[in-house]
Amino acid sequence: MAFELILTETNENILQITLNRPKALNALNRQLAEEIILALRDADKDPTIGCIIITGSEKAFAAGADIKEMHEHTFPEMYDLDWFSEWDQISQIRTPIIAAVSGYALGGGCELALMCDFILASETAKFGQPEISLGIMPGIGGTQRLTRIIGKSKAMEMCLTGRFMDAHEAEKAGLVSRITAPENLLEEAKQTAKKIATFSKPIVQMAKESVNRSYETSLSEGVRFERRLFHAMFSTADQKEGMSSFIEKREAIFNDK
Ligand code: CAA
Repeated sequence: MAFELILTETNENILQITLNRPKALNALNRQLAEEIILALRDADKDPTIGCIIITGSEKAFAAGADIKEMHEHTFPEMYDLDWFSEWDQISQIRTPIIAAVSGYALGGGCELALMCDFILASETAKFGQPEISLGIMPGIGGTQRLTRIIGKSKAMEMCLTGRFMDAHEAEKAGLVSRITAPENLLEEAKQTAKKIATFSKPIVQMAKESVNRSYETSLSEGVRFERRLFHAMFSTADQKEGMSSFIEKREAIFNDK
């Protein structure tokens, strides 16, 4: 499928997906959602892709779900279409996804960033769940993921008041992993993605799965899950290579085996 609302670029094992609906500040309509998900699924099936970056423009990562597309819908229509359910597919992507956020990440835009594995933010990033001012609340996981990540008090305030959080507050709250100057954001994201892509793909995927499991289960079950994966890693050639390379004082060469 030829994409119309995203740009995709593959460079040295990294897929970059750039949301490209500038006039609407990358508002997430159904076509844009479909294209993002298709690009992610294709990349996930491609053994040469080791990491994915999702980014937007300097002004907006994404200003939310497309208000104009949904405002006339009725409850039966929203229910029948199971509106937003397509986004659940992002949690099935096993390849790491970095959100590189500049400017507005609001509503569905904030929620898309939250669905990525981690967020690198430029100084200009603004996160928010302003749905309350539209007479709705977040619908792509904002009340759930934001609360788990930044805690009840901040998440509640953001969802009830629509207040935006700047990059520094977001970093302090644990929403973003790092802040960069706006002009360095993409380069930082690419370097970070490249680093991840140098490691063993199955091990990276297991590490991602294990961290994500911490959101779904009790501590003791999560630790047990981690330990079982850890044991399983000793059946891989990449574990042998990684440990041997340390002992032999050389760079490891992983073969994803
Ligand atoms: N949906 C549809 N169109 C949008 C949009 C959105 N979420 N956000 C911005 N746009 C459009 C504007 O309508 C405008 O289009 P026109 O030129 O045709 O009028 C264009 O993008 C530029 O926007 P502004 O003129 O408003 O730009 P600004 O710089 O003055 O303001 C902004 C920027 C503060 C981000 C403002 O656009 C805004 O508040 N946007 C809406 C944010 C929002 O409420 N997001 C939540 C959406 S609902 C949701 O996401 C539900 C969910 O949980 C998934």
